[in-house]
Amino acid sequence: MPCGAKMIVLGIESSCDETGAAVVRDGTVVLSNVIATQHELHAEYGGVVPELASRAHAERILPVVRSALARAGTGLPDIDAVAVGHRPGLIGSLLVGVAAAKALAWALGTPLIGVDHVHAHLWAGMLGKGGEEPSIDEVFPALGLVVSGGHTAMYRCDSPTSIARLGSTIDDAMGEAFDKAAMILGLGYPGGPNLDRFAQTAGADDRAHEFPVSRLGRESLDFSFSGLKTSLLYAVRGKPLPGGQFERDHSWMSDASRADLAASFQRAAVKAAIVKLERAFEQAGGGARALVAGGGVIANSRLRRELGEFAASRGLELRLPTMEFCVDNAAMIAGLGHEFLKAGTRSGLDLAAVPTTSC
Ligand code: KG4
Ligand code: ZN
Repeated sequence: MPCGAKMIVLGIESSCDETGAAVVRDGTVVLSNVIATQHELHAEYGGVVPELASRAHAERILPVVRSALARAGTGLPDIDAVAVGHRPGLIGSLLVGVAAAKALAWALGTPLIGVDHVHAHLWAGMLGKGGEEPSIDEVFPALGLVVSGGHTAMYRCDSPTSIARLGSTIDDAMGEAFDKAAMILGLGYPGGPNLDRFAQTAGADDRAHEFPVSRLGRESLDFSFSGLKTSLLYAVRGKPLPGGQFERDHSWMSDASRADLAASFQRAAVKAAIVKLERAFEQAGGGARALVAGGGVIANSRLRRELGEFAASRGLELRLPTMEFCVDNAAMIAGLGHEFLKAGTRSGLDLAAVPTTSC
């Protein structure tokens, strides 16, 4: 690759229930981003069924890659490297993406780069489409926050490829808490977006219930959402009775009371995240120039607003992904893959799919 030439990376994502492929130029310019979602497949089960997910990935991966190449107007010979989210996730799902990426990289004779999906969420805020991508010159070192369905953690990000975890959840991930809360409120799957919408109902009172905001002592940078979830459960169902029963079912709730509960839950959950960011900034934020955040929960309207206020009050640049890049996608994989490529990191064809994160 001659110095200064454009570098095109094909990204592949299959860690959970989205089959994704994307073509990204120079790490930030998204030429295409194709996502085949499986929500409809899993909706009736109230969560992702691993066997169904991996089968659907196997059926969709090649059409999704073809579609990403066609939308980007690129042919396979234009691809300089193939990046794949190889961890963390459902093992059967990850294997489909990893096998496809290896086959493509081998056939094309290009480098293969395995990317940690959680790390890639921190890159999502750097992505844009043709001319709208934000500058990354003023970003590092940065404070990083990942809040998704499977992970909730804060990081000190010294460069695009070098991050150190400051704290993480000791129980539920934030998105998982939103999903369970939505289920308690009878709002259905996918829970997070439904709860967010309900909390924004006109007249919803976010102070109707004083739900607990977990702090875990005075210094901790870890998160906990299980107490909040249990408080919501008791507010809806009353006290637990012997034999796993509750005082009441949830049929008493009107739409208005449900909206109050949703708004109060959302206020407490967002506050719990902001409290930890404030601490992280005090304890480890020295020299941080930006706040970078990613993961599905960053789509939450209240969290976006409060992150904006937090960053502004600390003089931090804010790098939030657009909605398209909050949820699982392959553009963030390709983008971060480009950064690793630039840093000289490549994977071998023995790259393994791994259920846990390295971050
Ligand atoms: O990052 P992501 O697409 O998948 C994982 O890697 O887990 O995140 C999905 C999570 C789900 O728990 C979903 O309910 C949550 O993000 N989510 C939201 C919102 N949109 C998605 N949570 C709260 N408010 C939202 N608007
Ligand atoms: Zn994710």
